[in-house]
Amino acid sequence: MAIPLLDLQTQHQSIREEIDAAVSEVFVSQQFIGGAKVEALERALAQYAGVPHAVGVASGTDALLLLLKAAGAGPGTEVITTPFTFFATAGAIFNAGARPVFVDIEPETYNIDAAQIEARMTGRTRAIIPVHLFGQCADMDPILDLAKRHDVVVIEDAAQAIGARYKGRPACSMGHAGALSFFPSKNLGGAGDGGMVVTRDAALEAGAEDVITDGDGAIEVLTDYADFEKVKAALEVAGFKPEIAEVTMRAENTIDLEGDDAARMQKLLDALEDLDDVQDVFHNAVL
Ligand SMILES: Cc1ncc(COP(=O)(O)O)c(C=O)c1O
Repeated sequence: MAIPLLDLQTQHQSIREEIDAAVSEVFVSQQFIGGAKVEALERALAQYAGVPHAVGVASGTDALLLLLKAAGAGPGTEVITTPFTFFATAGAIFNAGARPVFVDIEPETYNIDAAQIEARMTGRTRAIIPVHLFGQCADMDPILDLAKRHDVVVIEDAAQAIGARYKGRPACSMGHAGALSFFPSKNLGGAGDGGMVVTRDAALEAGAEDVITDGDGAIEVLTDYADFEKVKAALEVAGFKPEIAEVTMRAENTIDLEGDDAARMQKLLDALEDLDDVQDVFHNAVL
């Protein structure tokens, strides 16, 4: 039997009427670039992440790239991250012109091992990108402490973790900024590529916005990276609202398995339960 890599038909059918109505609204308004839907989504996600600013961008990769540029990562600087992530994380660092510096992962969570970061920091370190892999937050407190002591920027790669929490704090609310992805397979999947910069730092928000709009203080004109404002983006945005509740639902879902699979899964879940106050949103449950 051929099993598709990704099958979202059931999910789509469950919200189809809302999506159809929202898409129709976009066409009736003829607002295909930015506009009310994009702004509504930015407000909703900023609120969801518990931060004041959110800027829609073309993809999660571009959210990372824009934030790195706004944070001053470029030639001659280094950015610390995990090697165990989707390649966009290190790719964005490379594309910003900075050098990716890898720190090993924890065996329990597969997220960056905060205890090993300080040894890899140098005078050139500009930022740290912890990745909240598979919907589970990295151990943020020691990372934030290090970043404060060394005056470096923390950008959370939350492409897989919208809705996850660490000690009660939402992903993207802890560092200076976070990057979200709306790639169709993500927990808040859209109708194509899409992403968002989410930040509590007004200067980073202004920096990212400047690049997108080619504003007066533009760090650099990056037309290739500024194309969230296309028809497909407006369509994606139209469909997001009902799915915000869906993310929370997925976080609370339980998994029913039988036999060996159940025993193996239970062992893995037991290990995760030892983690303090980490609320996982189960992005990719790999069996
Ligand atoms: C951890 C991580 N970072 C970044 C990205 C990039 O997001 P996008 O595909 O929207 O560019 C992804 C997407 O797969 C991801 O999983």
